[in-house]
Amino acid sequence: MRWPRLSGLSCLLLTIDYRTAGVLALWVLGYIWLITFYMPRIRTRSQARAAKRAMVTGQVVDTITNIKTVKLFAHDAFEDRAATDAMETYWGSAVHFGWLSTSFRFWLMGLGGLLPVLLVGTTLYFWSVGAATAGDIAAAGAISLRLAQMTGWVSFTLMGIYANVGEIEDAMQTLSPAHQLTDALGAVELQPKGGAIELRDVTFSYGGGPGGLDHVSLSIASGEKLGIVGASGAGKSTLVALLLRLYDTEDGQVLIDGHDIRDVTQESLRRQIAMVTQETAMFNRSARDNIRYGKPDATQEEVEAAATKAEAHGFIQSLARFQGPQRVRFASGRTRRETVWRAAPAHRHRPRDPERRADPCAGRSDQRA
Ligand SMILES: Nc1ncnc2c1ncn2[C@@H]1O[C@H](COP(=O)(O)OP(=O)(O)OP(=O)(O)O)[C@@H](O)[C@H]1O
Ligand SMILES: [Mg+2]
Repeated sequence: MRWPRLSGLSCLLLTIDYRTAGVLALWVLGYIWLITFYMPRIRTRSQARAAKRAMVTGQVVDTITNIKTVKLFAHDAFEDRAATDAMETYWGSAVHFGWLSTSFRFWLMGLGGLLPVLLVGTTLYFWSVGAATAGDIAAAGAISLRLAQMTGWVSFTLMGIYANVGEIEDAMQTLSPAHQLTDALGAVELQPKGGAIELRDVTFSYGGGPGGLDHVSLSIASGEKLGIVGASGAGKSTLVALLLRLYDTEDGQVLIDGHDIRDVTQESLRRQIAMVTQETAMFNRSARDNIRYGKPDATQEEVEAAATKAEAHGFIQSLARFQGPQRVRFASGRTRRETVWRAAPAHRHRPRDPERRADPCAGRSDQRA
């Protein structure tokens, strides 16, 4: 809308005198230089400001999430200082950005104010030598004011766009890295069968570090229960992570029911495996929502039955929060019980195995490693 108007006004100036139009052309060159000088810098500084703002948020969230540890170690002052440092860094980058946008506005206003002076001034000069009429002066004045207004609007809009592009670019750096672990072309769904697990000469060291697994072979038959013990750092969690295909083996194969897990979809693989981690986690939601997480379509009766089996129903009821949407906070042992139940295979959502949903304990063939 505004660009055609801009070019129309410029053409109108040509009808006054080509030299006036020449003055305008010089002004436009200055304007273009101003835009091309400032816009990339505005984008870069906006990106830096967004990164620093994310650091402040991260620092505050980290402290609040671990507030218990902070209090236990009496590190309030340390955390205060870390948050203040992050805020000061953010403040510095915000001021850095502010200086740039202010100087851009300053030069833009200067350039915009110069236009009427230049155009009316040159037309006045031509009028004084008899080369322009009083009407030309009025037209030059009106045109220059309008042009200054419009270019100002365009510039501020451009500044907003470039500043937002900078912020988005910062976010994209977090969101855009491609997934390294993808499903193979033609990956099939892993069908629930016996659940025999085999590790064939598996080596994995997190890309060459000292820890991990070194040529491990292991066979767990369907229905077999196995406990793996070892010193801290021996590689127990790594073994389970490989089974869940959270990482690909550097060498060797992991097979479930004879299928190399790289040939099945990750979703179908993880749907077959129930996992209770060392660190139990509760969603900040109601007890019912937490229990239902393993099977979102569970009825109220199923949820209550699950809670009863986990010996959790009593204390959940005593909290009088079971029915409502309120968030829950349990003692860690209770939390663990609930997460154990959430992960129990028969309580999990299994669209392809509906009959196993009915009785959580029927036909279980899970193995624990
Ligand atoms: N994400 C990771 N990146 C790099 N190295 C890792 C990573 N996770 C674990 N390791 C290393 O791999 C080795 C095995 O760790 P793992 O967590 O499997 O041990 P673990 O047997 O489960 O120990 P714990 O009994 O303490 O849970 C350790 O040396 C550890 O430092
Ligand atoms: Mg572990």
